[in-house]
Amino acid sequence: MTGQVGVGLAGLGRMGRIHAAALAGRCSTARLACVYDADPDAARAVGAELDVPWTASYEELLDRVDAVAIASPTGTHAPLTTIAAAAGKHVFCEKPISLDRATTVAALDAVEAAGVVFQVGFHRRSDPDWAAAAARIHAGELGEVTFFRTSLRDMAAPNPAFLSGSGGFFLDVTVHDLDVARWLVGEVVEVHAHGAASDPAFAALGDIDTAVVVLRFANGALGVIDNSRSARYGYECSTEVMGTLATARIDAPHVRGVEWRTPGLASRDIARDFEERYPWAYAAELDAFARAVRDGTPPPVTGRDALAAFDLALAADESWRTGRPVSPEVFV
Ligand SMILES: NC(=O)c1ccc[n+]([C@@H]2O[C@H](COP(=O)([O-])OP(=O)(O)OC[C@H]3O[C@@H](n4cnc5c(N)ncnc54)[C@H](O)[C@@H]3O)[C@@H](O)[C@H]2O)c1
Repeated sequence: MTGQVGVGLAGLGRMGRIHAAALAGRCSTARLACVYDADPDAARAVGAELDVPWTASYEELLDRVDAVAIASPTGTHAPLTTIAAAAGKHVFCEKPISLDRATTVAALDAVEAAGVVFQVGFHRRSDPDWAAAAARIHAGELGEVTFFRTSLRDMAAPNPAFLSGSGGFFLDVTVHDLDVARWLVGEVVEVHAHGAASDPAFAALGDIDTAVVVLRFANGALGVIDNSRSARYGYECSTEVMGTLATARIDAPHVRGVEWRTPGLASRDIARDFEERYPWAYAAELDAFARAVRDGTPPPVTGRDALAAFDLALAADESWRTGRPVSPEVFV
């Protein structure tokens, strides 16, 4: 295969529209070939806006493309992945792969049996800041890693319809940080999670909107994750990795490089959401997927990486419910 890889996009909500914009305008190796949503009005609207073919039939989407990006609700990822793999199509799948472990493993088995490329949407692995820090950490420039800290906080909670199918706080939110923990530091052997619902709407769903998760890594390092669904001041996604030789801090909260100064006060913008913070990471992950399809390069996030992060999220959920530290090994 040469040239750009035509990608069919399934699911055109919050995340799907970000991927549509990336594929239509920011990617170099991938291009938007066709859009699909179970809601024909959504498919028609995005197709018209971006001047690409649209369909309300997944089978028709698969007939038109060699590769799909799946950004529909989490509970639909595994069936859409399995159907695509059976049709010999390469799959980029938003996180997490599924709402339960058995379905996740079955979807991974299906893509492995089909021999198609499969990549999961942990976009920080494709962000230039994170990738640059990761390269230096992996080269040993921190020395022995002793401590990991990461904060992921949304400014405002998503709508209740999304929350009810999200899999809960740890599977939906913390899973990003758990993947980063494994990527930057190594395997996690124990998770101790605490959660709270500051907004009663979350308690009514049996969910939480705030959490602190303490990690023990196999190499002896300690870690702490803090997450919030509604930080109110803006979107925050920052990490620190401390080692015996240096500390890496990744934090780029501003959208623009302007500081506005008035007497005694300097102010700057803060990203309001993941779309403002990471437009280029979302494009880069789709380009990496397209390169894996076209050139055979390894995808930056494999299905097995996603399963490991999923197991850690299950451990966090179990720990929050029982009040005890949990090893991810119990889910394997
Ligand atoms: N990587 C990230 O940073 C990130 C951020 C947000 C969401 N997500 C993930 O993206 C996925 C979608 O989340 P969202 O916030 O965009 O949800 P959303 O509810 O805004 O949008 C979902 C869209 O999928 C459509 N849909 C429903 N069933 C479908 C089906 N069977 N086939 C095709 N389309 C279908 C809906 O009509 C809707 O347009 C979730 O799995 C979520 O975890 C990832």
